[in-house]
Amino acid sequence: MKSRSLIFLVLLASSANTYAAEGDRWYSSRQVERGEVIFRENCAACHGPNAEATANWKQRDANGNFPPPPLNGSAHAWHHDLALLRRTVREGGKQLGGVMPAFADRLSAEDIDSAIAFFQSKWPEEVYRKWAANFEVSDMPSLTDIVVAAKRPLTRLLSQRIGNAKLDDVSETGIEDVWQVQIGNRYVYLLDGGKYALMGDLVNLENGRNLTEIARRTGVVALLSAFRDEDLVVFEAEGETRATLDVFTDTSCPYCQKLHAEIDRLQAAGITVRYLPYPRGGSGGPGYQTLKSVWCADDRKRAMTEAKNNRFDDLPPGDCSRSAMIDRGYRAGNQAGISGTPALFTASGEKIEGYRPYQELIPFLLQ
Ligand code: HEC
Repeated sequence: MKSRSLIFLVLLASSANTYAAEGDRWYSSRQVERGEVIFRENCAACHGPNAEATANWKQRDANGNFPPPPLNGSAHAWHHDLALLRRTVREGGKQLGGVMPAFADRLSAEDIDSAIAFFQSKWPEEVYRKWAANFEVSDMPSLTDIVVAAKRPLTRLLSQRIGNAKLDDVSETGIEDVWQVQIGNRYVYLLDGGKYALMGDLVNLENGRNLTEIARRTGVVALLSAFRDEDLVVFEAEGETRATLDVFTDTSCPYCQKLHAEIDRLQAAGITVRYLPYPRGGSGGPGYQTLKSVWCADDRKRAMTEAKNNRFDDLPPGDCSRSAMIDRGYRAGNQAGISGTPALFTASGEKIEGYRPYQELIPFLLQ
């Protein structure tokens, strides 16, 4: 591995978790509602309808297994960060000697997030706040913590090489002794017990599935679903919503302006456009202050349209609490691996880099 790519990895890996900055909870009420249904159908049989089972969760049963622990904040689910909670549901407890089934084949990343949102909605405020303030701490190791610790030798050399930057996720690939490690929006494959690292896409030649791209899209969907409509500037579909498009935008970028000029065409076709702020060049970029003003306006949609037409007279100062969204959007864009604006993401996490005319975009999104 060349040192340049290592530095690149370090830069990506240092981008902060986007949900950490929020004062309130990371999920929307819609996710909780949806999560309740998913939880009832998939989880309640073991964890109880309100995530309250089982009282004696610390005691092994006759077969030497732990019973399902409560997920309502009274046990230690809150010792795990979101990535680990997601992984627990995706992979289950089998590979760590537990009995919880894996849901990766049955539930989408969105469904898993909704199920997590549902049981987190049962957490008392004080438990949630501790969790949000302290994702990774665990003074009471659970089964998952033990497995993560046991996997550490696998990533030891990689961690050293990239300066101990945070590795977001380590998972099995289904190929013997090949592990996938996520670092920001990059994926690295470890071979031979972590002695070798390979960077590139992993493709199953039997069925043509690009496993890396699938992982990337799942990651982006999770990242973007953490943004609630209230946090964004949303141009709703006219009538029934047939597709949703998440767009990282900068008011000063000509192709963002061009896309915006056609937004009514997208809306009329049943497409909801959710704008996320992405100031090119970060806090020193040309659109940074304007984006803050747009996010602080009472009518954010109108302000967005004004700014995209280079009319700045009616924009308020960008000094309200909502202007924190601009930095959050910037971090999320970097984490999603975008290199410019506009950057478009479909509901399944597929990336479209750059402007596309509505005549092309509409059929693509509705196909
Ligand atoms: C067949 C019973 C069963 C089902 C169904 C089940 N779980 Fe579990 N779950 C367990 C058990 C048992 C554990 C403890 C670890 C183990 O044995 O695998 C556990 C552990 C967990 C943990 C880790 C908690 C901690 O404190 O470390 C989470 C989170 C979790 N389950 C969420 C879910 C969600 C969400 C669903 C539904 C999508 C679900 N589970 C469905 C039995 C189940």
